[in-house]
Amino acid sequence: MDSPIKTRVWRLDADAPDPDIIAQAADIIRDGRLVAFPTETVYGLGANALSAPAIERIYAAKQRPAHDPIIAHIAAIDDLPRLAVDIPDIAFDLARALWPGALTMILKRGADVPDNIAAGLDTVAVRMPSGKIAAALIASAGVPIAAPSANTFTRPSATTAAHVLHDLGGRIDAVLDGGATHIGIESTVLDLTGETPTILRPGGVLLDDIQRIAPTTITRSRWQTDDTPSPSPGQMLKHYAPNARMMVYRGEVAAVLDAMRRTAEELSAEGLRVGLLVAAEDRPHIDGAGVVHVLGRRDDLAGISRNLFAALRQLDAQNVDVILTRDFGAEGLGVALWDRLVRAAEGRVVTV
Ligand code: TXA
Ligand code: MG
Repeated sequence: MDSPIKTRVWRLDADAPDPDIIAQAADIIRDGRLVAFPTETVYGLGANALSAPAIERIYAAKQRPAHDPIIAHIAAIDDLPRLAVDIPDIAFDLARALWPGALTMILKRGADVPDNIAAGLDTVAVRMPSGKIAAALIASAGVPIAAPSANTFTRPSATTAAHVLHDLGGRIDAVLDGGATHIGIESTVLDLTGETPTILRPGGVLLDDIQRIAPTTITRSRWQTDDTPSPSPGQMLKHYAPNARMMVYRGEVAAVLDAMRRTAEELSAEGLRVGLLVAAEDRPHIDGAGVVHVLGRRDDLAGISRNLFAALRQLDAQNVDVILTRDFGAEGLGVALWDRLVRAAEGRVVTV
């Protein structure tokens, strides 16, 4: 690793960010260096999206493999043609309906966009995030900002500035601390380069929302377990993973909780420290079986999503050896939650 640099931390009001600080951060971006900033989904690790050396710094800081492409963030729909060519009408329809928001669109890459943001693909991922800090930073920089989630590769995404500093402190120039992010899981990635709009990663914008504008949209669920480049790179199974070994249970809720409790007791008897990641209503069934962490009420999938990555990091900090968690259904955000849970568990799903 390079010798550490001093990471500046600027605390900002998420609703009214100080323009002087934004201007200083924008200078750092224009200078080809790295600034982490909050979006409505998770914190991003930003660099000038039109500069190959700046993007190279992102890969180095994150220890991210070069075959995993990065999203470019813009502050206005009018900036889309700076990044993409042959943009289909449906992209503009979707942008008008769902931007700023948690939707990333894969489009044909424009000539001025460096190869390395796209890991060599002829496409580019573009998103217009909501949130005043992100919008102000991008607008002030005057260039699109490339930003993957601001975590070390394969670690849970960062939803607070403290998470960013934990993973990337000393490796990046600055962090804009705007408090905890609102959605807590990443954007939905939608590929618009083929015949049929295809969701490559479920996220903060739901399939229903997209289908209202693009009715033929489908979801392609595919997990890759090795380093082979593919048309949807970055879909490796190991992702968002805590240090602890995680298992995700699915099935009828009462049976799932029984099985989790039994397993927790068995593992504890073997001397392992067990973390349990559950809904508020699960608590009575599971109390005493391990370190219990409540994500939120069962019917509040937004709250559960918002808390997920912080919970994984907190259980790691509590030095648990194993994390047992469960499925939260396939309604709404449940789809994206399931995706993140299975990845965090590196595919260890127990069907009860
Ligand atoms: O909410 C989010 O999307 C956050 C915030 C910071 O915007 N960003 C984020 O970036 O989650 P990252 O790098 O952690 O995930 C980007 C995903 C990866 O799965 C990557 O493979 C995919 O988008 N992606 C990026 N460019 C792509 C491309 N040209 N073709 C296919 N997939 C692409
Ligand atoms: Mg990520």
